[in-house]
Amino acid sequence: MRILHFSDIHLDVPIKKIPLREWLGKRVIGGLNLLLYRRRKFENVWQRFDQLNEFRLREKVDLVLCTGDYTLLGTEPEYEAVHRAVAPMYSSPLGFVSVPGNHDLYMPNTVRHERFERYFGSSMTTDRPDLKVDEFWPAVRLFGPEVAVVSINSSRPNPLPWRSSGKIPDRQLVGLRKILAEPDIASRFVFIMTHYAPRLANGQPDSWDHGLVNADEFLDICAPVKRGAILCGHVHKCFRVRVPGVAPELFCGGSATINDGGGFWVFDMNGTSMTAKRGERLGERYVLTES
Ligand SMILES: [Fe+2]
Ligand SMILES: [Fe+2]
Repeated sequence: MRILHFSDIHLDVPIKKIPLREWLGKRVIGGLNLLLYRRRKFENVWQRFDQLNEFRLREKVDLVLCTGDYTLLGTEPEYEAVHRAVAPMYSSPLGFVSVPGNHDLYMPNTVRHERFERYFGSSMTTDRPDLKVDEFWPAVRLFGPEVAVVSINSSRPNPLPWRSSGKIPDRQLVGLRKILAEPDIASRFVFIMTHYAPRLANGQPDSWDHGLVNADEFLDICAPVKRGAILCGHVHKCFRVRVPGVAPELFCGGSATINDGGGFWVFDMNGTSMTAKRGERLGERYVLTES
């Protein structure tokens, strides 16, 4: 089984396509940020995403996992366009599993209009509804007898423009602890995925205004998982790091479409053992490198 994990594609639409009513509060600042800064860091993102899809087909990926930040501002026109672009990935042989990023829930009205649920609901299904603690989370997907993917949501609207931190609700952490102790899940290789990175590439926590505020509690719950990996995004740099005292290794997908250092991960499963390879963009195509 071959698994592709990518993140933070931040596909954007022309500003003029975003209706005036969407330009409220933080989005005005987010829009300026997009114009002045992100456009320089994220060029040709649509073309790059098509190339990532070509990679998926060429490399015979069975299952696709995305850790969020599909959009920049979480507006309806962005969701419509992004959903069209991502749709082919749903037809991967084992499907597509996803969590929202903070940009996908950029403002409270994005959540009120349930945009992520409407456009990406079919990537958030669960094979164990008895283990959910709210409408969607944690979601558990079982693939054959040997692999499980457990997703939790760490993203939330952050109406203050200078803050983009995340938090996993306490109920989800309680649910996650229970899930990881379930015999039918503990016997598998378990991918635990969420948007926010509990650690940076240097093994240190992210800052208070950008990071996962309950990263330590999350890592503490993941710590005993002997065969598993923690998957995240949000930090736009692709890296892997071992956290002392935490058995599963942490893999950050970074951003697949960013100008410099665009990357992602490919995991090859052989029973319950996993081999990780990094993917990166080389000219007009994405290729695998050794980890
Ligand atoms: Fe991002
Ligand atoms: Fe993010």
